[in-house]
Amino acid sequence: MVLTLTTDKKGSKISKYIYGQFAEHLGRCIYDGVYVGENSDIPNVNGMRTDVIEALKAVQVPLVRWPGGCFADEYHWKDGVGPKEARKKMINTHWGGVTEDNSFGTHEFFEMLRQIGADAYVNGNVGSGTVEEMQEWVDYMTMPGESPMANFRRENGHDEPFKVAFFGVGNENWGCGGNMRPEYYADLYRRYQTYVRQYGEEKIYKIACGPSVDDYNWMEVLMANAARYMDGISLHHYTIPTGNWQDKGNATGFPESEWVSTMERAQYMDELITKHSHIMDKYDPEKRVGLIVDEWGIWVNVEPGTNPGFLFQQNTIRDAMVAAITFNIFHKHADRVYMANIAQMINVLQAMILTEGDKMVVTPTYHVFDLYKNHQDAESIEIYGEHSDSITCTASKKAGLTTLSICNFSTDQKEELEFKLTEGQFSSLEGQYIAGEKMDSHNSFDEPDVIKIKEFTSYKEVDGKLVVSVPAMSVVTMTFKN
Ligand code: AHR
Repeated sequence: MVLTLTTDKKGSKISKYIYGQFAEHLGRCIYDGVYVGENSDIPNVNGMRTDVIEALKAVQVPLVRWPGGCFADEYHWKDGVGPKEARKKMINTHWGGVTEDNSFGTHEFFEMLRQIGADAYVNGNVGSGTVEEMQEWVDYMTMPGESPMANFRRENGHDEPFKVAFFGVGNENWGCGGNMRPEYYADLYRRYQTYVRQYGEEKIYKIACGPSVDDYNWMEVLMANAARYMDGISLHHYTIPTGNWQDKGNATGFPESEWVSTMERAQYMDELITKHSHIMDKYDPEKRVGLIVDEWGIWVNVEPGTNPGFLFQQNTIRDAMVAAITFNIFHKHADRVYMANIAQMINVLQAMILTEGDKMVVTPTYHVFDLYKNHQDAESIEIYGEHSDSITCTASKKAGLTTLSICNFSTDQKEELEFKLTEGQFSSLEGQYIAGEKMDSHNSFDEPDVIKIKEFTSYKEVDGKLVVSVPAMSVVTMTFKN
């Protein structure tokens, strides 16, 4: 099988924001996950755990979405600013009924971003919040001049405005964000977004709540009625191995049939993006409006013995396959998909990082983000040619370096692939990979390196072609100059 990389053609830019993260006030994502407080024994800077921040920096996290998810439409930002001892407590009704003490609020969010070096995606409250509350939050965060809210921010210790790159107007307003009809939400979106004003020099990229999975009617109604008021529209799709929300399948010890169904369901993202893009094209042929897949990932049963509302699950080589398959689909649609946020960053759903007290481990999914980081803001290269159904690959070029990533999600067959270029030759070849021995190979606090990035050497050059032998259950990234 020969696969051709069209190095002579110019492709779309793969937005770095496709590698975004989602951090909700849910379970142990924020608290314990990244924020332990200034007085914790766990090494921290201004309350953010140092080990976690360092790990996130290493994979060049470009942005973080916060405070939810479903939590966003119950969040009242004023409860999370000012002296911590005076902050209001609330019950996190969606997620485990635990007490939220609001010790992580707006200022802490921007401090976390400062330490990671990431941009902000703030999700506003439409479901239970007022227009005034949303307007004031944007004013509080971004107003450089004088205003009651900007002065309130200064009283709370931050003279300069914060930079809000992205603002979401509600979340899942067809469900947990208010159970609205698309016609009603489209009108509310138009109204609320009016008051997401640009106070400073930075333009705020406004994101409308888009459809759940295959709700094409929602996309149609939003695009028909509100496209001109938005910069992006969201899409949520989770990969449920069994397809049954009541019993989603387990993170480990699952049957091979659930491996197969997981791979199929992850690939469904391609059809979803294709069909939603088709609708968007009708109203926005210039592709000005970005498709923002701001929640995606594998969702399985919680780990036995953990709070069902905390959505804590183990992360295996199967998760790594889902990540690679999904990234390759996003790259294919780089002309429309401008951002994506894996759910979620730490200790929740398909997490990058797991923590327990002062222990931390990175997951196979984290390693895929690492293996793919060269693709951020690179120009995509189309690959054509036949390959087996268990192979998915992608390529891009940036600063003279071409990056080729290949995922083989067969459980037992290694695949030999041949690549050729339409222009140039392979030189300075290097490779890295991860692979699993079992379908549920994973890292734990006791064995943190079961899945880790290793040097990849199973390739050779033959008559100007690159011949690569890709192990079963692996993700390989090769770089070369050409
Ligand atoms: O990521 C967990 C939840 O899934 C989010 O809060 C919500 O938006 C979605 O239903």
